[in-house]
Amino acid sequence: MNITEELLEIVGDRLSVSSSELYCYSSDASQVKGVPDYVVRPESTEEVSRIVKLAFEHEIPVTARGAGTGLAGGAVPVHGGIVLDLSGMNRLLEIDLDNLQVVVEPGVIQDTLNDVLKPHGFFFPPNPGSSAMCTIGGMIAYNASGMRCVKYGTTRNYVRDLEVVLADGSVIHTGSKMLKSAAGYDLTQLMIGSEGTLGIVTKAGLKIAPLPKARKLVIAAFENAELAGKAVIKIFSNGVVPSACEILDRVSLQVLKRYDPNLVLPAEGDVILFEVDGTETSAREAAEQVMDVCSPLALTIKLAESEKEMADIWAARKLVGAAVSRLDPTKTRIYVGEDVGVPMKQIPKLLRRVQEISEEFDLPAMKYGHIGDGNLHLALFIDVLNQDEWDRLKKAADKVHRTAIELGGTVSSEHGVGAARGMYMEAQWGPAFEVMRTIKKALDPKGILNPGKLGL
Ligand code: LAC
Ligand code: ZN
Repeated sequence: MNITEELLEIVGDRLSVSSSELYCYSSDASQVKGVPDYVVRPESTEEVSRIVKLAFEHEIPVTARGAGTGLAGGAVPVHGGIVLDLSGMNRLLEIDLDNLQVVVEPGVIQDTLNDVLKPHGFFFPPNPGSSAMCTIGGMIAYNASGMRCVKYGTTRNYVRDLEVVLADGSVIHTGSKMLKSAAGYDLTQLMIGSEGTLGIVTKAGLKIAPLPKARKLVIAAFENAELAGKAVIKIFSNGVVPSACEILDRVSLQVLKRYDPNLVLPAEGDVILFEVDGTETSAREAAEQVMDVCSPLALTIKLAESEKEMADIWAARKLVGAAVSRLDPTKTRIYVGEDVGVPMKQIPKLLRRVQEISEEFDLPAMKYGHIGDGNLHLALFIDVLNQDEWDRLKKAADKVHRTAIELGGTVSSEHGVGAARGMYMEAQWGPAFEVMRTIKKALDPKGILNPGKLGL
């Protein structure tokens, strides 16, 4: 039997080999491209295991894919081979409120999980901008986080157990429902953020958290982004931990106003959204504290007046990256250098440096992101038909990445390394990167799991 026949035997008509269908799996939300030779849509762990075993025997690359919302080409099969489309493995297998946990398949969509949990009074806190479409499997693969990381942490902090298909097709569990374990290496944490290079996640046991009773949103505008960054540091040093702390620079503000003129937003300035949560009383007190601390630094500051006002602003914030096209339809936002992070104290410096870089290379830029955890999304936009602009963009992005490393930070805070940032791994990690290579070789000796990623 040839590979096609063997795959057909495993998944039947859930196999695609026509070039039109394969092309649909050749990109994610980044600029990275790579066409697979086969796309399979497994429906069980057993099917995934059989497919991976087949790939192992024939040394064919295997790339797992969820919703394809990634921003670094992580799910793009840059070496061809098999794409495992896991979006159909989307069952919510168990809601175990007694243990504050759920068990899901990797294709479950983040917002769907939270819609199910809400009537029970719980939620799964990580909250990426793509929560309406991204899958839990993808979130685990990239250690996704988003707006609530500042208080609630990243996906990493909510995974208790993973069922993983290893490179030879064997299946293991990396954890249990226990809250803690002191028995051996933590394979769960090793798998999280490994971008499908060490194994394929087929089930996940996740910790959930009680929904806060109240949320308040403070919207503060500052004369410049650096000052906004200083205000953020001041908030933390005064002992307030916001449940979200986002920057929308003056360009983002204009984008959002064009996107929805009815949004209640400051007239001008660089904006920080501080959200606090808790009980009605504790959230109100925290919001007042934010107002008191920020007022001396801010141009304007106000508390969102209603739940609707708050919900509208957060919905718009989630779309700001895409809505940037409203600014100039001839320019395209390119996802490079867009996910750097630095320690809190370096935030004002990072904001200043990226502004200087955008000026040096004469590229318009928008700055937004999760400033409360040091993560800045820099949006650089160019006319994609202009080669000179491409060249300047690449140089600017390179400088942004190197600046983040220099400031003690990371080239990716939540979008992952994928095929877009592998060249910085050595610079960021030094000798620790060699340890990553050793782990990769031990777990994937034939190099079939998502090759061409993480700079490995
Ligand atoms: C966001 C995505 C880009 O925060 O991470 O909007
Ligand atoms: Zn983000």
